[in-house]
Amino acid sequence: MTRPRVYVSRPLPPSAMEILHAHCDVRVWDHEDTPPPRPVLLEAVRDAEGLVCLVTERVDEELLRHAPRLRVVANVAVGYDNIDVAACTRRAIVVTNTPDVLTEATADFAWALLLAAARRVVEGDRLVRSGQWRSWGLGLLLGQDVHGRTLGIVGLGRIGAAVARRARGFGMRVLYTNPRRRPELEAELGAEYVELEALLVRSDFVSLHVPLTPQTRHLLNRERLRLMKPTAILVNTARGAVVDEEALVEALRERWIWAAALDVYEREPLPPDSPLLQLDNVVLAPHVGSATHTTRTRMAELAAENCVAVLTGRTPPTPVNPEVLRTSR
Ligand code: GLV
Repeated sequence: MTRPRVYVSRPLPPSAMEILHAHCDVRVWDHEDTPPPRPVLLEAVRDAEGLVCLVTERVDEELLRHAPRLRVVANVAVGYDNIDVAACTRRAIVVTNTPDVLTEATADFAWALLLAAARRVVEGDRLVRSGQWRSWGLGLLLGQDVHGRTLGIVGLGRIGAAVARRARGFGMRVLYTNPRRRPELEAELGAEYVELEALLVRSDFVSLHVPLTPQTRHLLNRERLRLMKPTAILVNTARGAVVDEEALVEALRERWIWAAALDVYEREPLPPDSPLLQLDNVVLAPHVGSATHTTRTRMAELAAENCVAVLTGRTPPTPVNPEVLRTSR
């Protein structure tokens, strides 16, 4: 019996490759740090029934036209704004993502960024390395208190809730905004539901945890950034385009807000001429929110399990468009 063909757009940890090899004929773009160039990807999916890809791969109408046999797109990420899910659904292609397994690692990283920005950890590191650190100083690198302050969570889903849970250890008040109220989490976290505008006005820290959709693109625009406190810090581990980056640069430069800490950008990798690179009051990370050894392995394994499940006629653990499964049965 012929085994289903799968294309994998980056080498995965061995345990995930084993899951795929056990059932499929697997080809891999064998470069750790660069995605396959678009023409290579389009050619590679020609006879593929499964595609395991990263957020760097755009799965759109053009790609789908090149992939007439495709039955599953398994994204190694929880976010799937790189995939035209509606176009996949129209073709009865199952899309899967990797929720849950990265929740805690990503929440940890949001806190790493929050603390780094509040206490100017990166600026301190740069000062020590530069050899310009002259003396202990009463006013050296003064930051913002974290304990006892107010944290505003935009999007109280899995990751937003995990970030909020950690705030309790810092004795913080938690505000949140979400498309629907989450009474069970309000009780657990003592979180208060507010409208976005009120959250921006009242919070000392604002952490973004919404998916990128047409509704959330530039959710934090110029007007909304203007509502934030001049001492406030914005943390973004969601998607770059949730914030109007041009407006954010203005906000940081003109100190409408005190600082930002970003893991994601409107364009990735961040272009070398990005004005963000000129600013001291922003911490810049290279989209590594979920990047721990165990979490990345579990993400890759889950993507491989999703892919194999679809190709062997089973229900994948974490489908994004389960309606395709219902109609194809
Ligand atoms: C990474 O950005 C993810 O969505 O998992």
